[in-house]
Amino acid sequence: MPHSKYIVAANWKMNKLASQAKPFVSEILMSYIRKNADLVICPPYTHLPHLSANKIISGFYLGAQNISEFESGAYTGEISADMLLDVGCTHVIIGHSERRAMNPFENSMIPNKISFALSKGLKVIYCCGEPLENRINGNEKSYVHDQLTHDLYHLSDLSQLIVAYEPIWAIGTGKTATSDQAEEMHLFIRKTLQSKFDKRSENLKILYGGSVKANNSIELCSKENIDGVLVGGASLIVDEFIGIVNSFNQ
Ligand code: 13P
Repeated sequence: MPHSKYIVAANWKMNKLASQAKPFVSEILMSYIRKNADLVICPPYTHLPHLSANKIISGFYLGAQNISEFESGAYTGEISADMLLDVGCTHVIIGHSERRAMNPFENSMIPNKISFALSKGLKVIYCCGEPLENRINGNEKSYVHDQLTHDLYHLSDLSQLIVAYEPIWAIGTGKTATSDQAEEMHLFIRKTLQSKFDKRSENLKILYGGSVKANNSIELCSKENIDGVLVGGASLIVDEFIGIVNSFNQ
């Protein structure tokens, strides 16, 4: 599918202080050319209210890094969809490999989290991707296929879903997948979801994540099936992140 507009999403993970969020984003926005890429900033929960007023003025999207699968109630430490909407979130990351690794129950909660977030009108950035071992053994596609069937096949359509392919061996390691490796997997993901959802997956965007930097984002996104990037470490550094965002306007 041709990418009419790219998506550049920043996953800050557990970094920065709430007081640093607004000045940082303001600096990004001063140099951000709003032409060819939509920007989604996903800071820690505590920073969201600090960015939400700013969001309205400047036209970037605000996302969270996780969500509860429940409406409300006795779920200590959890954050609900309504709470995210209340502070201006439009997007939420679900299924990040770091969460899957930290919580043994995360995998089983992902299908419900996705349905629930979508039912509330949030756009979901759904993460999948294989560990190094599966890449070495050459079964990375069957690993990702299993994730897709388990996590997404209960949905009725994918119009509000964004997939982020993040090979675990490339996250935070400085080891980016080559653009050919990424393209091959993106095409596989698109075909897999097309065979299940047909036209209901027509406009699906598939982002690549894993050691994306200003100097490799252009090459990655020159590929037909790479519709943008989900950026961790480099989204915390002003010049790097501006370099990535504006690389889509060349
Ligand atoms: P890095 O860009 O630091 O490799 O992180 C990628 C990631 O996990 C984004 O969600």
